[in-house]
Amino acid sequence: MLDPQKIRADFPALHQLVHGKPLVYLDNAATAQKPQIVIDTLSHFYERDNSNVHRGLHALSMRATDAYESARSRVAKFINAADPAEIIFTRGTTESINLVAASWGSANLKPGDVILLTEMEHHSNLVPWQLIAKRTGATLRYLPVIGADAEGGLDLTRLDSLLTPEVKLFAFTHVSNSLGVVNPAAELCAKARARGIITVVDGAQSIGHMPVDVRALDCDFYAFSGHKMAGVTGIGVLYGRRAMLDAMPPWQGGGGMISNVDFFESRWKPAPERFEAGTPNFADAVALGAACDYLDVLGREAIAQHDGALACLAFEKLSELPGIRLLGPRGARSGLVSFAFAEVHAHDIVTFADEDGVALRGGHHCNQPLMRKLGLTGTTRASFYVYNTAEEIDVLVASLRRTLKFFGAA
Ligand code: ALA
Repeated sequence: MLDPQKIRADFPALHQLVHGKPLVYLDNAATAQKPQIVIDTLSHFYERDNSNVHRGLHALSMRATDAYESARSRVAKFINAADPAEIIFTRGTTESINLVAASWGSANLKPGDVILLTEMEHHSNLVPWQLIAKRTGATLRYLPVIGADAEGGLDLTRLDSLLTPEVKLFAFTHVSNSLGVVNPAAELCAKARARGIITVVDGAQSIGHMPVDVRALDCDFYAFSGHKMAGVTGIGVLYGRRAMLDAMPPWQGGGGMISNVDFFESRWKPAPERFEAGTPNFADAVALGAACDYLDVLGREAIAQHDGALACLAFEKLSELPGIRLLGPRGARSGLVSFAFAEVHAHDIVTFADEDGVALRGGHHCNQPLMRKLGLTGTTRASFYVYNTAEEIDVLVASLRRTLKFFGAA
């Protein structure tokens, strides 16, 4: 069991007043706060080891290279990848998915091919596929969600009939950023693999909140961001199965990714360098390694239990509010709750909550097609992490009651 009161001491940003009220930070699905050890690791790197990696023969460059490659090994261990070479550092989930679309997609997709997505995808796992589909002549297909509030999650009864021979790639989110649904990723990957279909899992909302084992999932690609797992912004990861990466062309050209360059021809290094053109974001990668250490000390089973329990408690308490529409499943869910009121716009809810020191997110959460399907322009979202407490849910509910009263909706 996590002790959020103790954990809070590790996160300096939590100890502040907002509009004179203690900060209640419930916008963790957008970005999580950073523990002191991650902040210190980043500043210590800049204070002592900063130098470009893979290029120098001097002490600092060698230290920086060691730190960067150790971070790669640490991330590989964090997700149980077979080989550190399967870890490509990117700017985040969005860039990781764009890399697969641009590299694997341009080399493998052709007219008549189908990319299967789900209706709950974030724009980052949707728009890159639209772009590559337009360029290659492939088309998109969607696995639907069930229920007026998507409370049933994905309609898995439809999956077999949608996985036709034309489907070459199936990209889906592990955890929905606006529904809180945890998808059965291993089951989805197994169905795709049985048909020779490549899988891309968007792990942005799962990576910091639950154990992730890419070999147990048996996915081809797994994409995630550092900043949602207590790491810093600007660093993310694409895990790719070694055999897949070795067969893929570069997606960006430049220094660091070549084995030889001539005026008219170049040859590439193997992964991961092949996909890391230019100076990589080594300092933030080192800080990501520290975030992996921090989360593993807490224990990811314990984090999943804590975040999920808070979300279920919030779901129950919020369901008592008049006129509320709660999205996603009642019961087991990841650490977030999304809701809407017919009479009050999400932006008003978030603005009023901010006056009470409560940080929420309101809007379409980069899920415009899903919101349209559910007949909504947006929702308000409360998302939890290791430092959140049951008392903070009471502050949230009290703030919402105040807002509803102001708008004459309670
Ligand atoms: N993708 C992030 C979210 O869902 C920003 O809030």
